[in-house]
Amino acid sequence: MPVEKSSIAELLQLASVLDGVSDTPRLDLEVLLCHVLDKPRSYLFTWPEKMLEPKMVEQFNDLLQRRAHGEPIAHLTETKEFWSLSLAVNATTLIPRPDTELLVETALNLLDKSTAHILDLGTGTGAIALALASERPNWKIIAVDSVSEAVFLAEKNRQRLDLRNVHLLQSHWFTEISRQKFDLIVTNPPYIDAGDPHLNEGDVRFEPDSALVSGNNGLADIELIISGAKDYLIDGGWLLIEHGYLQAEAVHAQLMNEGYSQVSTRRDIAGHPRLTLACLKCLV
Ligand SMILES: C[S@@+](CC[C@H](N)C(=O)[O-])C[C@H]1O[C@@H](n2cnc3c(N)ncnc32)[C@H](O)[C@@H]1O
Repeated sequence: MPVEKSSIAELLQLASVLDGVSDTPRLDLEVLLCHVLDKPRSYLFTWPEKMLEPKMVEQFNDLLQRRAHGEPIAHLTETKEFWSLSLAVNATTLIPRPDTELLVETALNLLDKSTAHILDLGTGTGAIALALASERPNWKIIAVDSVSEAVFLAEKNRQRLDLRNVHLLQSHWFTEISRQKFDLIVTNPPYIDAGDPHLNEGDVRFEPDSALVSGNNGLADIELIISGAKDYLIDGGWLLIEHGYLQAEAVHAQLMNEGYSQVSTRRDIAGHPRLTLACLKCLV
């Protein structure tokens, strides 16, 4: 059946298609419609009677059906806001989460230096590295990922944002990083156990295991990073690790075992312990 023209107001009536799929059906519709129209949300409320051509209606319906099958909004619009940045996203890595802004904020408050060397392990879209770079133009940041498509995506984001103080590299954690010392190493590594039922829910179903899953109850990569980082941190350098809300104790213990000090955990906005930081060879 040929698709007919529809008004913005008519298309916004279709929220029930997302019943049981999304907690925010109306917002999802608005975001998808803005994406198709390439307009801000205010446009929808200013011009509700505006008629969309059949081609646009078709494009919108297609996105709506994909959303009804659970695909994340960020994959449909191919963008996600993180910190103050709009980042390109795709299915090769994690969609940046607002939770990770805690790590960015903590790093910025922790390191009171205008020039510093930073390493971001498992950069994905480049979210953490690019957010730090945007705030501290004189920090030199190396960001790595083991997935070549993720490195390509992060590089695309870097170029579009014109953040010249970030250098991207494909590396399996530290393997391709030349011997050098960093003031700060930040990471949001994969930390979910393969048997975790959350992997079958919501957006994560559409994200790759390479970004999510790790062995040893989700702690295997964190353990590799904690031990490997010791060769790459200056004396007095800091390691910041985002982890699952039930992993704080294990991460804390591993950091102590490996000889770090000033180990502390920060809570996210929901009150969950999600970020642990530690210093290597700090004086006090
Ligand atoms: C949880 S995602 C975090 C992405 C991004 N830093 C963020 O916070 O949105 C973990 C990232 O680590 C990468 N990764 C997984 N194993 C890795 C390894 N051995 N070496 C480097 N990167 C790895 C994945 O490809 C993925 O991009």
